[in-house]
Amino acid sequence: MSGTNLRFINTLILSLLLVLTLTGVYGLFFPFPSFLFEIHRIAAWALILLIPWKAIISLRSLGRGVDRRLDRNVMIVVSVAASIATIIIIIFGLLWKWNLGEYYLWIAGYGYTAIGWHWGIALYLLLPLFALHAWRRWPHPKKTDFSGRRQVLKLIGLGVASVATWGISEVLARNLQDKDVPRRFTGSREEGSFAGNDHPVTSGPNQGKIKLDPSTWNLRLTGAVKTPLTLSYADVLALSISEVTAILDCTGGWYTTQIWRGIPLTDLLARAEIHDEAIGIVLKGVSEYTASFTLIQAEEILLATYVGEEVLEHKHGYPLRAVVPSRRGWHWVKWLTEIEVITISTQSV
Ligand code: HEM
Repeated sequence: MSGTNLRFINTLILSLLLVLTLTGVYGLFFPFPSFLFEIHRIAAWALILLIPWKAIISLRSLGRGVDRRLDRNVMIVVSVAASIATIIIIIFGLLWKWNLGEYYLWIAGYGYTAIGWHWGIALYLLLPLFALHAWRRWPHPKKTDFSGRRQVLKLIGLGVASVATWGISEVLARNLQDKDVPRRFTGSREEGSFAGNDHPVTSGPNQGKIKLDPSTWNLRLTGAVKTPLTLSYADVLALSISEVTAILDCTGGWYTTQIWRGIPLTDLLARAEIHDEAIGIVLKGVSEYTASFTLIQAEEILLATYVGEEVLEHKHGYPLRAVVPSRRGWHWVKWLTEIEVITISTQSV
């Protein structure tokens, strides 16, 4: 394979993994825009189509065997590990997409959905390996590697083939997916919409262990405010007069649409009279679980006491949880105890 083609393939794969990681990570925070998730899928198919060429390059490099250079030997291990991780990530992505295998996949005693394993391995294993590989095996691309007529035709060809395979994958997925379980463009599956508390729960390892007693619980609004607030459960119930229909979309692969009832955060911030230099808020739940928002982002937040006609159950964050329509579920802090208004100086403390 010529040097041009070697650099062409390696630079393309580097760019695609960058696109996959950036679109993937963005999608872990924000459940929109949908085209971003399609860009992720199309980039994934472009990567899959390049695997045979990358395999030729890798096998040739491996064929030169190990030698006394520690760096080279370490990089062989890193490259092989990165290749295996990439294949595993692709398999988990397609298992989830095509609705194949069990809902939860247990590996080494840990049970996650295929999409959970997909991004977990991508973030915590592939990303560091990929960064090391790119740093030590930088392809040194040249402009001519992408400008020649042949190279441009190859790029167009890859683009067309990626969109075509993405299209085929979508058709296959529609046929393989459970007709009774709608899917969202985020890849999440619909569960328990408008069924009140009867929807799934995703909690971190040490979450949900502390059951809050409404008789001793209160919500404190602290930080850069003129009038710090301490509200009892009775207070927040009395103020729970607003409703919002919002989709809770968990990165674990499920989503639910519910009518949430509670207090608009802006009402409480107005009551507490935030200082002019305030720049944002931090929602704090039990077990040190927090999420931060700018004041603009905080405008959409509802502090919910009810889901549907039902009081929130403990598993869903009783007595109070955040509803943040434009964020993925892990920002919807449960078991709220404090809302701190922050300024530039306090946020770094
Ligand atoms: C931070 C990292 C990542 C996140 C959060 C992420 C997330 C996602 C999501 C939500 C889907 C849609 C699943 C569905 O429609 O059911 C998906 C599909 C997919 N992703 Fe990723 N991904 C990440 C990284 C990667 C990487 C590094 C690769 C490649 C090595 C990759 C390859 C795929 C593939 C092959 C699919 C299925 C394509 C299809 O739907 O037709 N992803 N990913």
